Amino acid sequence: MNSPKVVVEGLCKVFGTSPKEAVAMLAAGATKEEVFARTGQIVGVHNVSFDVKEGEIFVLMGLSGSGKSTLIRLINRLVEPTAGKVLIDGRDVASVPRKELIALRRKDMSMVFQSFALMPQRTVLSNAAFGLEVAGVGRKERETRAMTVLEQVGLAPFAEKLPAQLSGGMQQRVGLARALAVNPSLMIMDEAFSALDPLKRKEMQNVLLNLQREQQRTILFVSHDLEEAMRIGTRIAIMEGGRVVQIGTPQEIITNPADDYVRAFFEGIDTSRYLTAGDLMQTDAVPLMQHSPQMDASSVAATLNGSADYAFVLDSERRIRGFVGRDALGSASPQLNQIECIRRSTPLDDVVERVVASRAPLPVVEADGSYCGSVNKTNVLNVLTRHRGSHV
Ligand SMILES: Nc1ncnc2c1ncn2[C@@H]1O[C@H](COP(=O)(O)OP(=O)(O)O)[C@@H](O)[C@H]1O
Ligand SMILES: [Mg+2]
Repeated sequence: MNSPKVVVEGLCKVFGTSPKEAVAMLAAGATKEEVFARTGQIVGVHNVSFDVKEGEIFVLMGLSGSGKSTLIRLINRLVEPTAGKVLIDGRDVASVPRKELIALRRKDMSMVFQSFALMPQRTVLSNAAFGLEVAGVGRKERETRAMTVLEQVGLAPFAEKLPAQLSGGMQQRVGLARALAVNPSLMIMDEAFSALDPLKRKEMQNVLLNLQREQQRTILFVSHDLEEAMRIGTRIAIMEGGRVVQIGTPQEIITNPADDYVRAFFEGIDTSRYLTAGDLMQTDAVPLMQHSPQMDASSVAATLNGSADYAFVLDSERRIRGFVGRDALGSASPQLNQIECIRRSTPLDDVVERVVASRAPLPVVEADGSYCGSVNKTNVLNVLTRHRGSHV
């Protein structure tokens, strides 16, 4: 396994002149508000640990003031930590000399902000090439590379235009192109799409996801919007009052929110559409039996064990050969019925359609075809009422 790109360990930042007392209070469980009331110190980030794996989009999500930007600044060391450390590629950022740090930020940690601050008198191409220019890359090469990323974000035809001639959404793409052009090993995007209207925001998310499919970058993405986090995040860390309250994949967070703060983000959002067959399957609901050319009624009866209506029949590689039902018990040679399998990653809506059309529970299989669980109508109904019930 690859070592993580970024490791954050016990990171704390208290803003103020005497952080010690604040840190002690925090360690004893005090909230950011209590610390402020008693000491006047402002908690930015408290005791945050996580790692970002190579090639994933790691999203920091939380309300405004929860510490997302501070955490980002601690990672690229624009802010000094009160405690804890940050490793990038296994290297402690604190030990990097100042001069090298600037180069590191420029090359290895490209930042994209909400306001892209394009230079109005320069062309789109020149703006996109700016990071490379600062890094000392010659004109011809930087323009070639900038043109490549402009193509990737769909702006090649506008290369010679000025930013003001472009719409807001297109300007955001220029900013993204500028960050991409330096080919950073880590992209840090702080609320990069937050100022856009919902339609443009979704479009930018798609641009990012498409780029990610071609070229897996490591991206640290800050957002206060759960739907955005769900759409683009490989994993999400949810922050509250400087702390991380939960880390997980979108599915893990939906199926098992840590507390009411996390749950509150889901209000008004149809979270069920982020679920897959794997999230609602049961692993022990349907008995299993080994396939053999001649099945006999007694082994079927033993498998069904008096209570089950169906059993799945697996071959030696745990692939589904079919199912047998209770109705087969009367026959001397029970019949193996065909059944379709559902991939573990199948989205809920497809699962619903197929489960509803089937009289038996459906087997769920891994990408390699091996059996991992089953879904039936009850599983589907449960998940729909739980996730959609509050706003139908
Ligand atoms: N330079 C600073 N001095 C004092 N307080 C700060 C500073 N930067 C951030 N804060 C405080 O730290 C907390 C976290 O802020 P921030 O990281 O910007 O949150 P977010 O990005 O999640 O909105 C807030 O209470 C904010 O007021
Ligand atoms: Mg912020």
